[in-house]
Amino acid sequence: SAHSDLIHKLPKAELHLHIEGSFEPEMMMTLAERNRIDIPFKTLDEAKAAYDFNNLQEFLDLYYQGMNVLRTEQDFHEMTFAYLQRAKADNVVHVEMFFDPQAHTERGVAFGAVTEGILGALERGEKELGITSELIMSFLRHLSEEDGFVLLDESTPWHEHFVGVGLDSSEVGHPPLKFQRLFERCRELGFKLCLHAGEEGPPEYVREALLDIGADRIDHGNRAMEDPALIEILRDTQIPLTNCPLSNLSLCVLDDLRKSPVKRQLEEGLLVCVNSDDPAYFGGYIGQNYEAITEALELSSDQIVQLAKNSFTGSFLPDDQKTKHV
Ligand code: HPA
Ligand code: ZN
Repeated sequence: SAHSDLIHKLPKAELHLHIEGSFEPEMMMTLAERNRIDIPFKTLDEAKAAYDFNNLQEFLDLYYQGMNVLRTEQDFHEMTFAYLQRAKADNVVHVEMFFDPQAHTERGVAFGAVTEGILGALERGEKELGITSELIMSFLRHLSEEDGFVLLDESTPWHEHFVGVGLDSSEVGHPPLKFQRLFERCRELGFKLCLHAGEEGPPEYVREALLDIGADRIDHGNRAMEDPALIEILRDTQIPLTNCPLSNLSLCVLDDLRKSPVKRQLEEGLLVCVNSDDPAYFGGYIGQNYEAITEALELSSDQIVQLAKNSFTGSFLPDDQKTKHV
């Protein structure tokens, strides 16, 4: 597009990325062979053909199945470093990355193998690619709050390596309030709180995340736009919204990107930014997400720059480093 050059050159931060969602089918097949694990796909085309979702749950079923071939620290390192190389190609200079430890520990993979694999790649990414990073440990909301406490406890030796905690997986039926005590404890421990809310779930879930939990960031947040009072809170507090255009389209949160709330959120003065969520599954990394939303909403160059600025303002970087990029 006319803005491709600008989109590419702008330094960007990625704030909503599930590292397991960057697991490309090519690598999945390589690791399946190396770890001698059967997968339901014989060819790349077969895998990609399965990536056709009608809702969040259909995606999650494949997402959890795909990560079944991840077994060793080396596997997690390779997956993470491959993402960082893709991010580098899009001029991402800072990333705040989710990971889903419960999806691995429940398969018998040690928490340490998962975490050390990812952390080692992040360290290498800073040295070799100049990308700074933070890690966010996410709780699976389809599991119980008690399961979340078990993870929080098990992860204690690594707490200094996490900037925050997240809440992801199946949203409807699993409101933020289900995890109120867990997040209270996480806040006491000094973690930032990032909650997926208002992707498929109703505006009430965004309200709970903001007002009952005290979220520092709302992931997705699309459906907040249904409630004028929530829009006002988001404007007043400047709590960031991490929008994911191609994810919204793939998961049928939107039937058309022209219905994306991003432009209206910018116009209303909300702190929205653009991210890739699960790029291996949703058809594009962050650059492609900027391209798609720019084209669909006919964003101006000022609006594109604003989105990139918002990605740093909305990050957990120290204030002096936020302004280094904006
Ligand atoms: N929503 C909820 N859970 C997730 C997602 C998402 O977009 N990606 C990975 N886990
Ligand atoms: Zn997500």
